[in-house]
Amino acid sequence: MKIGFWGAGEMAEGILSAIPSKKSVIMAETREERAAELKKKYGVSTTPSVAEVAKKADLIFLAVRPAQVADVAEAVKGSIKEGATIVSIAAGKSLAVLRRAFGPKVALIRVMPNLALKANAGMCAIAPARGVSKDVLAAVEKILSGAGRTVILPEKCFDAVTALSGSGPAYFAYMMKMMAEGGEALGLKKQVARLLAEQTMYGTAKFLRESEMDLDKFIQGVCTKGGTTAAGMEHLSKPPFGAAVQKTLAAAAKRSKELC
Ligand SMILES: NC(=O)c1ccc[n+]([C@@H]2O[C@H](COP(=O)([O-])OP(=O)(O)OC[C@H]3O[C@@H](n4cnc5c(N)ncnc54)[C@H](OP(=O)(O)O)[C@@H]3O)[C@@H](O)[C@H]2O)c1
Repeated sequence: MKIGFWGAGEMAEGILSAIPSKKSVIMAETREERAAELKKKYGVSTTPSVAEVAKKADLIFLAVRPAQVADVAEAVKGSIKEGATIVSIAAGKSLAVLRRAFGPKVALIRVMPNLALKANAGMCAIAPARGVSKDVLAAVEKILSGAGRTVILPEKCFDAVTALSGSGPAYFAYMMKMMAEGGEALGLKKQVARLLAEQTMYGTAKFLRESEMDLDKFIQGVCTKGGTTAAGMEHLSKPPFGAAVQKTLAAAAKRSKELC
């Protein structure tokens, strides 16, 4: 199966790195230096023409910025191979919008990835349009699971997905920043505080993933009565923090809905 990319930016590279056989890949990218960089690094074929990719590929990742999707659709009109599948990662572009842009014949899959894809630890929600074959869906899931975790969900969940895992890296990074700054305020050097915050966030996520422990149980377990964690949790668990997180996700989900 020939795999194509329209756009070879940051997210495309994250997906590309998870494809075992790079020889089967052709990428369309307008920025010459970027195309040369990926060609050198991964040995993929590159072209400035999205139409050339459309003519050759069976499975195409649409990985340009959302505002560029309409131009790509216009440029590939009449060139897409029969039976091809387009996998769109463009934020806020619904399956209905993609259907209008690319016509009735192509199979469509919408994916909401996140930035952690670049570290092979991404979270991708996958919504297939009606009519996508099980084999094609399995092939897409296999590729994306090479760059992290995947979940197949109906498209109606995508505003929530966008708010939680799509936008989530920024929120966790902010929390990490607050933790590091808190450490600095207590006298730690900047770099040390960042390391402590980063490794604690990473290690906690890893432990919870591996142990599958209930979150309340975990929190209770580490909050020994009269201890240091309990003293800290006294403040963190007060309503403002939880409410701020809820409002953050609600605002992101609302914006996602508006962009569709
Ligand atoms: N970054 C995230 O955290 C994240 C999370 C979820 C979803 N997404 C989605 O992922 C998609 C890609 O994001 P990104 O951050 O990887 O963007 P990016 O780094 O800007 O990559 C897009 C690339 O496509 C190129 N391009 C645009 N139009 C083209 C055309 N007609 N032919 C060939 N190449 C073309 C762009 O070149 P120019 O710069 O010259 O235009 C750019 O190099 C977006 O739709 C975004 O919504 C991103």
